[in-house]
Amino acid sequence: MTIAHHDIEKQVAAAVAAQPDRDSGPRTKVIIAVQTPELGRNLSEEMGQDPNVAGTVVHGTLNAVLDAKGMELDRIDIIAFEVGEDVAADLAALKRVEDMLTGPQFIAVSTRPLAADIRNAMLDLGVQDMLVVTLKAPESRVGADLRKAPEHTETANPEPIADPSLGEDDMPAALTAQDTPGAEMLAKGHGDVTVMLRARGGAGASTLAVNLAAAIARDAKPGTTALVDLDIQNGAIALMLDLPDSDQATRFVRGDAVPDAAFLDKAMVRHASGVDVLTAPDVFAPLSAISPQDMVTLMTALKTRYDNIVIDMPQTVVDWMDPVLANAARVLVVSDMSLPSVRRTRRLIDLIAEEHMTLPIKVVMNFEKKPLVTTEAQKEAAQLIGRPLIHWIPTDARAAKRAIDLGTPLIGNAKRSGPARAIVALKKTLFASTGKG
Ligand SMILES: Nc1ncnc2c1ncn2[C@@H]1O[C@H](COP(=O)(O)OP(=O)(O)O)[C@@H](O)[C@H]1O
Ligand SMILES: [Mg+2]
Repeated sequence: MTIAHHDIEKQVAAAVAAQPDRDSGPRTKVIIAVQTPELGRNLSEEMGQDPNVAGTVVHGTLNAVLDAKGMELDRIDIIAFEVGEDVAADLAALKRVEDMLTGPQFIAVSTRPLAADIRNAMLDLGVQDMLVVTLKAPESRVGADLRKAPEHTETANPEPIADPSLGEDDMPAALTAQDTPGAEMLAKGHGDVTVMLRARGGAGASTLAVNLAAAIARDAKPGTTALVDLDIQNGAIALMLDLPDSDQATRFVRGDAVPDAAFLDKAMVRHASGVDVLTAPDVFAPLSAISPQDMVTLMTALKTRYDNIVIDMPQTVVDWMDPVLANAARVLVVSDMSLPSVRRTRRLIDLIAEEHMTLPIKVVMNFEKKPLVTTEAQKEAAQLIGRPLIHWIPTDARAAKRAIDLGTPLIGNAKRSGPARAIVALKKTLFASTGKG
């Protein structure tokens, strides 16, 4: 049975509009698109029992859901779709949203085993998990799996057919092949490096990078604090600080410049906040334009010149992340409380910890006030992440927008805003023990 097309529109619009629950905080918005009604019932039964999930079952293909009029992909956390008869159409649908910077995570659900080449194609197009569901027992527990993966092995019916942790494709050889960071990755120099990672685009990593660097610079001598935008495809720091994109960075990603001390002489731009900034290139370069060896050279130059270096990284895990981390004093993973972000935070932490066991990894929860009393949702998030949640940055959309319009850090133009206070406090916590700043 297929429900008429206008119903898809209504269902999708309802899913988009689902409001956060007052008691349990933001809920994970899930759309389940199925062609097999039984599968839809099966999944929705489970979701209905989970107060943290706002789920909507839609009868239709992934394409139909993406095309639905009320669709706002930014407002949906997860789209689980039944792989249809026409697999090529599903792949084409995934292809359409492949390059989106923000938006939902996709989970493929199938009632039949999928061939390896289809699975690989889906993983390549960014599908996060794949589940094969056998429709027999009415008390199947797939909904719980959507929420709690990767632990879906103990349930009877759904059968994970792909490891839901970061796919192998996301894991460069440099991260998997070695047990310890090689000595060749260690840069010379004394500088203290803070690396910014994020659970999703828009989590606030660049905002934190800019403001943390400004907070450090405020208490330091001019010319001793660096901020480096290595998110070369989505560089946002230039905009946030009203600086131009870097033509020197462009030369670097084109292979026309070695990122050494002489490069820094030309490339670093002093911002009014006292931070020396390297913005992203003004051309679109593949992430592979940077090699791990380049990164050792750049880290050496930075650590030799600066006391404190803050680095904003791309969201994708790249092979030159390893030399950056090998030279870091700490990593901050910026997340929000949505389930996809929490899960990705956990995967990132696991991935980093595997290679850099002693590297301090701190989770920063953005868009959340530091709780006076921990809610169930927060406890659950901490549990999923596997460590306590200590650092929180509240939301202040007006202050954030004004900061971008003015091209100055929040801690300068909106000192008293929640985010500015939280980031200054974070800076003090991070650097208290080292006596720096
Ligand atoms: N605590 C906050 N309150 C309000 N807006 C914020 C906050 N943190 C970040 N933002 C806004 O969210 C958007 C995404 O932030 P950004 O730092 O660019 O994310 P990322 O670098 O992780 O992709 C920006 O418009 C930024 O101003
Ligand atoms: Mg960014």
